[in-house]
Amino acid sequence: MVDVKKIAVVGSGLMGSGIGQVALMGGYSVVMIDIKEEFVDKGVAKIKEGIEKVAAKGLLGEGQSAADVMAKCSKNIDLANAVKDCDFVIEAVIEKMDVKKDVCKTVMDNGPDHIIFTSNTSTMSITEIGKESGAPDRVCGMHFFNPPPLMRLIEVIRSEDTSDETFETAKAAAASFPCLRGDRYIAPVLKDAPGFIVNRMNAPVQIYLSWCFDQVDQKGLDWVQLDADAGGKMPMPPCMLTDFVGIDTMYHVMSYYQETLSPDFKQGKVITELYESGNLGEKTGKGFYDWSQGRDAIKSKIKGAEPAGLFDLNTTFAIMLNEGCRVLDEGIASGFKVIDDANMAGMNAPGPFGWGKRNYENAANILNELADKTGKNYFRPIELLKSGNFSKMRK
Ligand code: CAA
Ligand code: NAD
Repeated sequence: MVDVKKIAVVGSGLMGSGIGQVALMGGYSVVMIDIKEEFVDKGVAKIKEGIEKVAAKGLLGEGQSAADVMAKCSKNIDLANAVKDCDFVIEAVIEKMDVKKDVCKTVMDNGPDHIIFTSNTSTMSITEIGKESGAPDRVCGMHFFNPPPLMRLIEVIRSEDTSDETFETAKAAAASFPCLRGDRYIAPVLKDAPGFIVNRMNAPVQIYLSWCFDQVDQKGLDWVQLDADAGGKMPMPPCMLTDFVGIDTMYHVMSYYQETLSPDFKQGKVITELYESGNLGEKTGKGFYDWSQGRDAIKSKIKGAEPAGLFDLNTTFAIMLNEGCRVLDEGIASGFKVIDDANMAGMNAPGPFGWGKRNYENAANILNELADKTGKNYFRPIELLKSGNFSKMRK
């Protein structure tokens, strides 16, 4: 395995800053990289704030102060130069294939011969990102969940070209990044397929959400009413979660699924308009919601709202069950237990298989009705769901 001492995090935004924080907490030297000084400064300031909170709770290593940890954090806006003395790279730039391929190639052209490149892409082919880099065997996927310091899951994805040494080094590095909410859960992804495990299983939920958003718009309802439909049973209800993840990320992810999974992933009117307006959610201060008063203010508005009667949790479970069956069918995960456990570790929400074992016939009806209602045939139940045979695929 490669001896990892210094890590470069490329992209110092929402995810990059969280990843930089957990890498520092794991004891590594970290260089934060972005395209502009102001972006890298903002990312480093967020890391410092996080590390100081951890220090105040006495959760840094023996005798370590926030200043000791931050002394191992540097910044750079020249990628080629920054990676010269790094052993490991985690890329968290925008969700665009050509940008990721460019970043990967620059790293491989300029880093030392042993350097490993990992991508935090939400959906995209790791094989394609690495193909023209000159060293595809040293490229691997490392997918964190937002926010990386609090969400336990990291998916490690083997591409068609990833070497054993790269895969093992990436899994060991992932396991060494501390999590503030319990032990890390590392899910090995056995096949490089769009969305990997957790995002793939939740992918068609985005078609459903996008349809719900457009219904709210057509009926002249309020976003808080759609979020009230979740009845407080989700850690973050639909509009809030979309703002939290970033409307640009949802938009790009749906574009990629449109090309790779089905044209049914076409974004609806509301998501497209928000994306084009630049109101991208919490990170820009405005999306569905105005975030200037903080998360709790939004939560309390949702609590008092009249439900819209559009979004339904059982429908979400049925959609996830169907897609989880596709994940099993395609050999992306070894069994449904990994999928359910990964969903809990990555989204703080139960996966669908426990529910599905008791409800798969009902799920098939729900899915057919939804396909009729929305005109999206991607929702139709697949054979593995209808037969209930997924329940024999635990491991
Ligand atoms: N460093 C140090 N401490 C931090 C911190 C950081 N970076 N971030 C938060 N904390 C601390 C807070 O200060 C707080 O401390 P106190 O308890 O002392 O006040 C504590 O951690 C808990 O933080 P919050 O109050 O913010 O936590 P919460 O209870 O409100 O839960 C949440 C937040 C875990 C994010 C929860 O809302 C949740 O589970 N939401 C769902 C998130 C989700 O689904 N993520 C996955 C999205 S999909 C994805 O990521 C994949 C993709 O590719 C798009
Ligand atoms: P973000 O917009 O907050 O951050 C992206 C950063 O990358 C920006 O600061 C941007 O300036 C920088 N950047 C763009 N091109 C660059 C380049 N060529 N070199 C260096 N930096 C560059 O986005 P984010 O939400 O942090 O997402 C980053 C990646 O992580 C995406 O691939 C996304 O799909 C993935 N991801 C996002 C989430 C989420 O919930 N937002 C969760 C998991 C994975």
